[in-house]
Amino acid sequence: MRDALGIPQSILVLGGTSDLALATVAELSGPREPKVVLAVRDEVRGAEAAGAIGAHAVTVPFDAAAVETHPRFVEELFAAHGDFDVVLVAFGLLDADDPLEVVDVNYRGAVSVLVALAERLKRQGHGAIVVFSSVAAERPRRANYLYGSTKAGLDAFAQGLHDDLAGTGVHVLTVRPGFVHTKMTEGRDPAPFSTTPDVVARAVADGLRRGAHTVWAPRGLRVLMTVLRHLPRPLFRRLPG
Ligand SMILES: NC(=O)c1ccc[n+]([C@@H]2O[C@H](COP(=O)([O-])OP(=O)(O)OC[C@H]3O[C@@H](n4cnc5c(N)ncnc54)[C@H](OP(=O)(O)O)[C@@H]3O)[C@@H](O)[C@H]2O)c1
Repeated sequence: MRDALGIPQSILVLGGTSDLALATVAELSGPREPKVVLAVRDEVRGAEAAGAIGAHAVTVPFDAAAVETHPRFVEELFAAHGDFDVVLVAFGLLDADDPLEVVDVNYRGAVSVLVALAERLKRQGHGAIVVFSSVAAERPRRANYLYGSTKAGLDAFAQGLHDDLAGTGVHVLTVRPGFVHTKMTEGRDPAPFSTTPDVVARAVADGLRRGAHTVWAPRGLRVLMTVLRHLPRPLFRRLPG
């Protein structure tokens, strides 16, 4: 349960080496040391991430694409570690040699583990799930429509899950970052409104405090995307990158 200051006492991160998730863990923890479980596909990178957080962080193996393992993964995880106040669903691929891998991780894997998590959190009767969607979910661009299509599906699922869980004590927050400087975007030209993981982390913490269903990071993207969503296709297609 969150403490009297609203600080979570336990945080689970799926995609435990994600730069955005790790910045969010730091922001949500503040000076406290909540229990942190990083679910990672690479044990070495995971151990590094846990070491940077401190002795209150541990890792568990997790592969978002291995959907058949998810129900058991969630049950065993909660049995071993107890309830979680906040779950960050932060894994994702921007691209891959096989386009279906992007679909399998970003959409199929996310829906699969979200279904299992939602059931488990409903049983504990409290908790927040933070789903890292993207501004790309709003309108697919020529440069990243595969990624955008998976985030559009995930975003719609997360919004529906939020409504489905109303009244259960479980809250779902969808996060729509723009271009953020992380491992995922390394070496790519920054898009307009590009930002840092800290800005996204603060938006998540603020969204959780307010009980928001959706946050944009940076906030101005909401207005920009409202305009871009209605831009005629021939103009939209000419936008850079
Ligand atoms: N950076 C941006 O500009 C941006 C913008 C909008 C939305 N987002 C979204 O925000 C989330 C976090 O991204 P980030 O910027 O923090 O990127 P990141 O640092 O590259 O993190 C991505 C994470 O996904 C994990 N992952 C990939 N495939 C996986 C699999 N099959 N099973 C388990 N974990 C897997 C990676 O693990 P490994 O360490 O094993 O690679 C890594 O922990 C993603 O969902 C991303 O789509 C990012």
